[in-house]
Amino acid sequence: MNLDEIIKNRRSIRKFKDTPVDRAVIEACVEAARLAPSACNAQAWHFNIFDEEAAKEAFCDAVFTGIYKPMIFFKKAPVIIAVSASIGGNLTTRLGQMVSGTRFYLIDLGIACEHLVLKAQELGLGTCWIGWFSAKAAKKALKLPLGHQAEIIIALGYPDESPAPRPRKNLKEIITYNR
Ligand SMILES: Cc1cc2nc3c(=O)[nH]c(=O)nc-3n(C[C@H](O)[C@H](O)[C@H](O)COP(=O)(O)O)c2cc1C
Repeated sequence: MNLDEIIKNRRSIRKFKDTPVDRAVIEACVEAARLAPSACNAQAWHFNIFDEEAAKEAFCDAVFTGIYKPMIFFKKAPVIIAVSASIGGNLTTRLGQMVSGTRFYLIDLGIACEHLVLKAQELGLGTCWIGWFSAKAAKKALKLPLGHQAEIIIALGYPDESPAPRPRKNLKEIITYNR
């Protein structure tokens, strides 16, 4: 599969087979994330992987609660990856962030996670980004230190559905040249 096919065939997957995912496969996906670029090479990310039933269920029960309950169905995914970041990044990104107002660590995290997602697609896995969860509960469950925050969750597993492509804006709507 070439990159174009990987990008075009990827879908958010919300229904997974029970088939477990080998740790070598999970780590191949995280390896792709590890190689992502980051502002000032801060690499301010961490991946908490839940691939054991009891731990995964406890984490999902903790973070998909209250108004986030609609996402509880994701606990059926064989693997749940909680991605956290050091909010300040490193000293250089912290300074850059203060001056420019851009939260570089979030951009970095997004790139790394999409690397993970695309690698998963190449390996025949399905993924879904999950932003709708209690970050407060996740911080507690993951015992994250001060200055660290859970930003996103990724569900991973072998797909048990083949959704049609979801609509996208066309190129003309999103490009502006020279102004
Ligand atoms: C940052 C981010 C957060 C998302 N959060 C959720 C979520 O909480 N629950 C969910 O079911 N899908 C979530 N999605 C998936 C989007 O709904 C999905 O990417 C979008 O509808 C386009 O569909 P596609 O990924 O199949 O192309 C999220 C995607 C991104 C990038």
